[in-house]
Amino acid sequence: MNINQQWQRPWVVANWKMNPVTTTETIHLITELNEKLLNQTESLPNVVVAPSFIHLTTVKDLLNASIMDICAQNVCAQNAQKGAFTGEISASQLQNLGVSNVIIGHSERRQYFLENNDVLIEKIRHAFDNNLTVIFCIGETKAQYETQQTQAVLESQLQILENFKQSLQNSLDEAVKPKLLIAYEPVWAIGTGLTPTFDEIANVHHFISEMLGTMQIYAPILYGGSVNAENAKDLATIDLVDGVLVGGASLQATSFYQIIQDFCVKNG
Ligand code: 13P
Repeated sequence: MNINQQWQRPWVVANWKMNPVTTTETIHLITELNEKLLNQTESLPNVVVAPSFIHLTTVKDLLNASIMDICAQNVCAQNAQKGAFTGEISASQLQNLGVSNVIIGHSERRQYFLENNDVLIEKIRHAFDNNLTVIFCIGETKAQYETQQTQAVLESQLQILENFKQSLQNSLDEAVKPKLLIAYEPVWAIGTGLTPTFDEIANVHHFISEMLGTMQIYAPILYGGSVNAENAKDLATIDLVDGVLVGGASLQATSFYQIIQDFCVKNG
């Protein structure tokens, strides 16, 4: 399998958010995952784990790097490698630590930390400048969903990628690891146990794919929002679902392992 084929595999990404509380629980979780995945390397999807910053080094040191990759949940928007930015982590620091992926634009960051397009553009810029792969999250609220604004919302959220067309198109030519993954996460599906219908997910992924196509950007498209061990198998059958971004169900090794198994099937 060449590197391009490897990156064409489906993606199963764990977003642990502000969990677990203790380092001991975190060590337990990653150790259990390592053990479950130990004898299985061939048909695995790309498995990526995003712990909170405080546990990033612990998890990075413990995870089996031949099976899993590490991801940060955030990055500083300021144009600085280091300096007087209390509480922030720069893209350079992540790169130096050996972290090569970062989640940007999660609805919780947009909602609770008021991250707008200007901030997100800066974050993406610094991530790309430091060779980080960006998992860019987009999605509509319940009110927007109910008033049929989903496509308009996604279109405006994706619009900021116009700023990066040049570097993203180059990455397509190189046909190596994508610099960008899109995670479609309807805000109303996050942590609620609700999901759109499979037809709706298929239609939205098709829409996103068309939009990326017109920008000549290649990016795998993940679905996120109440993915669990029960629905992952069906989600994996949807044509343009290249993987999943999992919150709550990734905090139990057993359910996250099951989701990984369901995407092994998709991997063939
Ligand atoms: P849940 O899987 O808990 O709904 O969270 C989804 C999410 O926000 C992943 O980024």
